Amino acid sequence: MPFPEVRLRRLRSTESMRNLVRENHLQPAQFVLPLFVCEGEGVRREISSMPGNAQMSVDRIVDECREIHSLGIGGVILFGIPDQKDEIASGGSAENGIVQRAIRAIKREVPRLLVLTDVCNCEYTSHGHCGKVVDGDVDNDATLEWLAAAAVSHARAGADIVAPSDMMDGRVGAIRKALDRDGYSKIPILAYAAKFSSAFYGPFREAAESAPQFGDRRSYQMDPANAREAMREIELDIEEGADMIMVKPAMPYLDLIRAAHDRFDVPIAAYQVSGEFSMIMAAVRNGWLDYERTMMETLISIRRAGAQIILTYFAKDAAKLL
Ligand code: PBG
Repeated sequence: MPFPEVRLRRLRSTESMRNLVRENHLQPAQFVLPLFVCEGEGVRREISSMPGNAQMSVDRIVDECREIHSLGIGGVILFGIPDQKDEIASGGSAENGIVQRAIRAIKREVPRLLVLTDVCNCEYTSHGHCGKVVDGDVDNDATLEWLAAAAVSHARAGADIVAPSDMMDGRVGAIRKALDRDGYSKIPILAYAAKFSSAFYGPFREAAESAPQFGDRRSYQMDPANAREAMREIELDIEEGADMIMVKPAMPYLDLIRAAHDRFDVPIAAYQVSGEFSMIMAAVRNGWLDYERTMMETLISIRRAGAQIILTYFAKDAAKLL
């Protein structure tokens, strides 16, 4: 039955009517806020390209986590900014590394807030690449040991979920094996399965001080042109033992979030990355976009595409509106 009998506007007439028929919802419990933890005490260094975000020392991170938890946000994902970097990323798996100390402090003070850790080497290597560099390229198999060691050290410190973001082949299997061997069979892996070599990571590299000193990440992160390959990446990570998978960035890759959701019966996460956040903030600051509406529209679009879990720098402000 066409128009005039059918009128879709009937169900849009009032706020209550729209609420009744709304298909997708956002929940703070499914947000994860990225945090940057640095050395020192009482330190809060604003990140100029990411307004409202800062590098924080462990004590400040703990205070921040109390507020994050009180807003109902599900978890935080930690990125470490060590004072010392070296060729072999030793800070990444150190018992007393910056992230390991932050995990212990957060779990002691705010135990019910989930602590996720980004498992990667780029913040800890002097050259800024995500693994061991051999002949000018990242050596896959040698890097697996570093990643497994980092993941185990996070679990030992009390992390709830480890999230490898390096894009080495075989890392999920290597991490699963190491966790199980050391008694952490209960710790889930959220694999950054389809992670693209993206210009949208620009502001993050300032925030995490992790820009590669030579070359780029195209020999390990994915080509933005490839969708079918993303499905293979996801499939392999699930086979190797990933409990959840992630698509990253989020907005330019909504098609892949949808495809992953339709194809794989594991929870799907999406990372709305630094550049997605910063470009919105830039437009908001120029008065070109409305902050709240734009933020909520981007988040619901990611949800609608099929992501349950959203990693986003908007987590706090969005939670306040929900
Ligand atoms: C580490 C890592 C990166 C991001 C998350 N984990 C940077 C990169 O791969 O260069 C980017 C997150 C963001 O842009 O918000 N490898």
